[in-house]
Amino acid sequence: MGLYSNVLFPGCYDRMMKDAALDARRSESLRAVRGETLEVGIGTGLNLPHYPAHVRHITAVDPNRGMAKKLREKTARGAIAVDLHLAGAENMPFIDALFDTVVTTHVLCSLDDVDAGLREIRRVLRPGGQLVFLEHGLSCEHKVRAWQRRLNPLQRLWGDGCRLDVPISEVIRAAGFELVSLDEGYLPGHAKTHGYIYQGVARR
Ligand SMILES: C[S@@+](CC[C@H](N)C(=O)[O-])C[C@H]1O[C@@H](n2cnc3c(N)ncnc32)[C@H](O)[C@@H]1O
Repeated sequence: MGLYSNVLFPGCYDRMMKDAALDARRSESLRAVRGETLEVGIGTGLNLPHYPAHVRHITAVDPNRGMAKKLREKTARGAIAVDLHLAGAENMPFIDALFDTVVTTHVLCSLDDVDAGLREIRRVLRPGGQLVFLEHGLSCEHKVRAWQRRLNPLQRLWGDGCRLDVPISEVIRAAGFELVSLDEGYLPGHAKTHGYIYQGVARR
């Protein structure tokens, strides 16, 4: 992991992602959280203020040490205890069916192997458990899709591996989840290439 991934990206991340419309969506999504909860790709912990008050403890994974450092600064003074594991979604150090809820927000775009990550998420969810997701991905418009594909190489560089054209609902379904709710569309105030949002809940 280089200087950009480990230091510069984590250092700028909160400022880059600070956005009222996205924050409102975070709160809305996390209302669904219940039971033993795992957040995959927790990053610097931008979701933490948006968990409902009954959530006092979560487990998390993220492979980036720089993000983990920023997260620990937050959790030291926060209301939610986070049991963080430095691991990737594709190979998580948990037994089968341990969690009632898995949360992913703006993470599926960053996985090198999104199918393997989702299979692993499914494995650690108990039967009937839920995946709560808030992700950006492939637009419904052909013109925008073409731009997403053109911009991908640049986005992968400055977004630390992020891809703009992941067909989120399709990959979730393909991993064997049933979509319980799905809201798709552009987030106001964002470029169409970067702000096509998939928000919903899928059941294992
Ligand atoms: C765009 S950030 C999103 C962070 C946070 N979820 C949020 O909503 O602000 C993507 C995160 O995914 C993490 N990530 C990258 N590859 C991963 C992997 N294979 N498994 C789990 N997380 C990963 C990155 O380290 C980073 O923290």
